[in-house]
Amino acid sequence: MEGIEYLYELCEALPRCGPGDNEFTRCAFFAIANPPKYPFILDIGCGPGVQTLELAKISNGKIIALDNHQASLDKLMEQARNEGLEEKIIPKNLSMLDMNFEENTFDIIWSEGALYFMGFQNGLKRCHQLLKNKGYLAVTELVYTADNPPDTVVQFFEDEYPDIKNIEGKIKVIQQEGFNLISNFTLPESAWLNNYYLPIEKELPRLNKKYQGNETALGVFESFRNEINFYREHSKSYGYEFFVMQK
Ligand SMILES: C[S@@+](CC[C@H](N)C(=O)[O-])C[C@H]1O[C@@H](n2cnc3c(N)ncnc32)[C@H](O)[C@@H]1O
Repeated sequence: MEGIEYLYELCEALPRCGPGDNEFTRCAFFAIANPPKYPFILDIGCGPGVQTLELAKISNGKIIALDNHQASLDKLMEQARNEGLEEKIIPKNLSMLDMNFEENTFDIIWSEGALYFMGFQNGLKRCHQLLKNKGYLAVTELVYTADNPPDTVVQFFEDEYPDIKNIEGKIKVIQQEGFNLISNFTLPESAWLNNYYLPIEKELPRLNKKYQGNETALGVFESFRNEINFYREHSKSYGYEFFVMQK
């Protein structure tokens, strides 16, 4: 992607790289009625790892934190050291498209705002292979939350994310791929704004100034501006759904 370095620079200045909140990471984790006492967890597309750190605190588990952006893994491990959690987290710089773990390895796989890089259905398939029998998968995924989203919204996602479906549509895919749905809930607007869009809005003036005259960089920042405006206008029509399921 052209200008990806500017996207990374923006992301590195944010608390997290997508919508989410520790409160909902906890809700999803505690939807698992009987997690193993010491689960082996894979966090796919962990980014700076806000949810990884939370999982380390609440799970007693060992977590492989996988991302293909080293700076995010460094940020995660610095925070892990500050919080005395580094023994519980193994950073792994690897593309989720090239995961070479043995089948039936993990008790729990986690992925907030990232599984779609593999394609939702394909990602479910891969996680199914990597999970132990009866293992758990928790993911957030973009969905239509309105019964009849307006044409503007449908057109927008035809370009941006054609794989978007309503919640029932995603549940069908989950079942097709051999999972039982345990719980699902929609992230509230606060999870988009407080930890993601408001911090982006705070950074944009500084970055626009820094890269004055650089059209590629300004184009990247402008697309975030547009995405945020679009969300503010249409947040009743789409959102992130947390799906917790069992193999
Ligand atoms: C939207 S961010 C979500 C980060 C984090 N889970 C969160 O909620 O803050 C998506 C993450 O996926 C990572 N990513 C993108 N493509 C990837 C790939 N092919 N393999 C591994 N990680 C990838 C990005 O570097 C980024 O950290």
